[in-house]
Parts: sequence; C-alpha cells; structure tokens
Amino acid sequence: MGGLTSISLAVNLAGLSIRSPVLNASGVLGMSAPLLKRVWDNGAGAVVTKSLGPQPRDGHRNPTLLEVDCGIINAMGLPNPGYEEFLNQIRELKEQKVVVVASFFASTIKEFAESARALTSSGADALELNLSCPNVEGEPGMCAADELSVEQVTHAVKSVSKIPLLVKLSPNVTDIALIAKAAERGGADAITSVNTLKAMAIDADFKRPILTNITGGLSGPALKPVALRCVWEISEEVKIPIVGCGGVSNWRDAVEFILAGASALEVGSALKSVGFGVFSDINSGIEKYLKNNEYKSVGEIVGLAHKG
Ligand code: DHB
Repeated sequence: MGGLTSISLAVNLAGLSIRSPVLNASGVLGMSAPLLKRVWDNGAGAVVTKSLGPQPRDGHRNPTLLEVDCGIINAMGLPNPGYEEFLNQIRELKEQKVVVVASFFASTIKEFAESARALTSSGADALELNLSCPNVEGEPGMCAADELSVEQVTHAVKSVSKIPLLVKLSPNVTDIALIAKAAERGGADAITSVNTLKAMAIDADFKRPILTNITGGLSGPALKPVALRCVWEISEEVKIPIVGCGGVSNWRDAVEFILAGASALEVGSALKSVGFGVFSDINSGIEKYLKNNEYKSVGEIVGLAHKG
C-alpha cells in the first residue's frame, strides 16, 4: 500500500510535459526513429535527436571517437542526413506517441529559422539548439562563446517557433552564466548544460594526435564535476529551467544535478557503458531517493543544494 505510488517523476519543463526527468543526450543513438523508440520504451521522459543541420553532412574521417580514462572523446563533425530527410523519422515517432526534442544547428540566422520552422511543423514537441559543437571551427561551431550571437540566434528561432526551446551551451567559455543569461534574454525556455569539453589525445607510439580532427569533445564521468558546476552557476543567474547534461551515469549523479538546479537530465556516454537500462535504473533510483527523503516530486528538490 502507498509505497512508491504517490511519488511522481513527471516534470513540466518550460511547457514540455515529461513523464520522467531523464532524456538521452543528443548524438547518442539519435540517428533513427527505431533507436529513439527503444530509448523511449526503456523509460526516457523524451528522446533527443542527433543534431540536424540544413544540409546532409558526412562528418569527419575516422578515427572520430576514442575511450580515455573516465570518458569518451569524439569529433564526429556533426554527421547527419539534413533536417529535411529526418522529418519523416520525427513523424514516425509522433505516431507512436513519443515525446521528441529535435536538436539542430546551422550557420546563419536564416538557416536556424528555416530549420526551426520545419522541425516544428513536423510535430516535434520541443527544440534543442546546439550552439556548442566543439569540432567544426568557423561554421556552426562555437556560437555559444558569444553572448550577442546566442541572444540573436535564440530570438530568431523563438520568432518562428512557439514550442519550448532548449538552448544547449558549451563549457568551453569563461563565464557560462553570462551566456545563459543571453539565451534567456533571447527567449530561451530552458538551458541544456552542457555540451562536451574540448579535449585531445596523442598516441605516444605514432607520435601524432589520435583524432583526425586533432581535438574533440570529452564526455562521460570526467565531465561530470565540470557540468555540475556549470548547472550550479547558471541556476544562480537565470530563472528558466535547466537540463543537466555531462557524465550522468546513475541515479546518484542525476540527484546531484537536480540538487544543483537541474529540472531534468540528459544521459549520453552512459548509454554506451550501461546500456538502455540506464533510464529505468535512474528513474527507480530517483523515485527511491524521493521516498527515503520524504519528497513526492522531483520539483521539490530542484536547486535544494543552494538553500543550505
Ligand atoms: C560533435 C558535436 C557536439 O555537439 C559535441 O559535443 C561533440 C561532437 C560532433 O558531431 O563532432
């Protein structure tokens, strides 16, 4: 009787209603509707697509990914079929009642707006603006390092799309809270914190960088303390909700991010290390934590660590 039944994992994320606060991070398994459906069937609150661009892209040549101590470094180079090609996958997911967040990037304000419009009309429930890929210099890349660009792009997207907009920021900046405030000024509904941390690896025998792109983005457990600090700093400065991302591998990580100020989480590298079961594991861990600490909803503990 009673038990866990009175506890709710549901969250309203700036207008996006999700049954659980745990999502997949963009780029991990997001390339096809069937894979995203598996993420959903395993208990994710919503699924996030791979970042879609205005045109098809092959991405960088291999090697594009390697495992290092406590994490993964990747420089895929934003490979994707182009958003138009992907619209049917979104429609397919919507027919199956999956909550879909479409991640996208572009190079110009016009392209950002066109992509946002198309993705919205395909039925996506929310958009996630990837302003923070560390691996494509000069083009869609590191717009997230510039306050004005972040505000302008966010504003342009919000002008053409009314669905909730998550703006995903980069940890590779001096003051992430300033950038988050720029996104909030531009009309962002939520901040995703954070994308990968710029990193590299060198092979001592070959005496060369391992990745073709030389540098790549570090994710996984090594990123977690950095991502947690980013969520903390952002939550001190903005009012919009935060989606924590970066090294979330288990329920305890998830709870730490929520206490730091996140209303939801994205899981990336752990999908590789733990598998699809990571969503139900984190869901039941959060549920037990809430019960043991006599809370009834996730919302009650968001940002609690700031109040001590
Ligand atoms: C890539 C994109 C990202 O946003 C990221 O964090 C890491 C890698 C990429 O496709 O290269």
